[in-house]
Amino acid sequence: MVDFVPDAPHRLTLAHPRGESDILVGPGLLASAGSGVLSGVADWCRGRTVFLVTGELPDRHCGAAARKLLEPAGRIETLEVPDGEAAKTVECAASVWQRMLERGGKRDSRLVTLGGGAIGDLGGFAAACFLRGIDYVQIPTTLLAQVDASVGGKTGVDLAGGKNSVGAFHHPRFVLADIDCLGSLPAAELRAGLFEVIKMAALLDLDLLALVEESLDRLLAMDPEVLTPVVAASIQAKLNVVEADLEEGDRRRLLNFGHTLGHAIESEFGYRGLRHGDAVGHGMRFALRLARRRGLDPEFAERLERMIDRLGPPTLGDVERQLGVRLDADRLIKAMGRDKKARESGLVWILPAAPGRGEIVPGLDPALVRSELEVFLDTSRAPAGGAPA
Ligand code: GLY
Repeated sequence: MVDFVPDAPHRLTLAHPRGESDILVGPGLLASAGSGVLSGVADWCRGRTVFLVTGELPDRHCGAAARKLLEPAGRIETLEVPDGEAAKTVECAASVWQRMLERGGKRDSRLVTLGGGAIGDLGGFAAACFLRGIDYVQIPTTLLAQVDASVGGKTGVDLAGGKNSVGAFHHPRFVLADIDCLGSLPAAELRAGLFEVIKMAALLDLDLLALVEESLDRLLAMDPEVLTPVVAASIQAKLNVVEADLEEGDRRRLLNFGHTLGHAIESEFGYRGLRHGDAVGHGMRFALRLARRRGLDPEFAERLERMIDRLGPPTLGDVERQLGVRLDADRLIKAMGRDKKARESGLVWILPAAPGRGEIVPGLDPALVRSELEVFLDTSRAPAGGAPA
């Protein structure tokens, strides 16, 4: 895990073929505009047009601090987009590009995203393609965006039935993860982000897993003293993987633990009723069933299951009733086949193989997957993750 220096923002760096992403983590980060630590951002935007891609909620809570930080810009053009997954459409990207063109965007203009993972993905994609690519900065305002979506250069939008089906790798110049932005989040949003933390900790950093486990209540109470090291350590765990495999040739796929089924559930629910992180929580629980079949230490599986249950994502049964949609094993398997993690040879699973170690498993017996999925769906309709797997 990374060392944590109280009262100083944590600095992390990702080197990539086109330069470096500087990642700063800490409470009060945006409010320290003008201080040495953010002088790089001031220089980056000085005198330029900055397109601020944001949504109503993040703008309300963090917009003033972000604009203060961007004061050296020649002008700031705010481009409002919908909050949440509704932002991640080709139409929304086209509307951002059109507004940038009409408001005088040039090759050396800047773009800043301020919001959750969806706004970051959309804004990053807009930056990747506008005039064949302009520089941008991510200011993630949700836990999920801070620990995962804003870091590593993945950008994109969804197609009908295909999450993140169109996108580009485009690394932000800076990522500014201000822990104070999390203070305005609903508890359910924070919980959803914690599933992405557990996803990385379980396969990559057992010290982080232990910290999350012992601090779960403090994390849910948004205690910055524990949120800051958890966010910094999660980003570091992600960087260790991404640096070795920038464009997801292989190892980076470990970051998709829980996503094979998670994305399919989101797609079947039409991206409604369940946050992405919660879908990943359910996806991890299913992956743990498959991993147990492959000999994963049952104690480790139970430990992860207990953490997932303590966080308590909405049950699939509750979401089914709310949306009037019943999940079906065959439809989910088809949806998983459309996911971008699938290969022409079939589904690919990311499973824990041992504590702190994951494996990428293609070619699991489809009959086994189907029967496990049916049992999983039945048990997940009950509260708190259902009966033990
Ligand atoms: N969220 C997974 C990745 O960035 O690769």
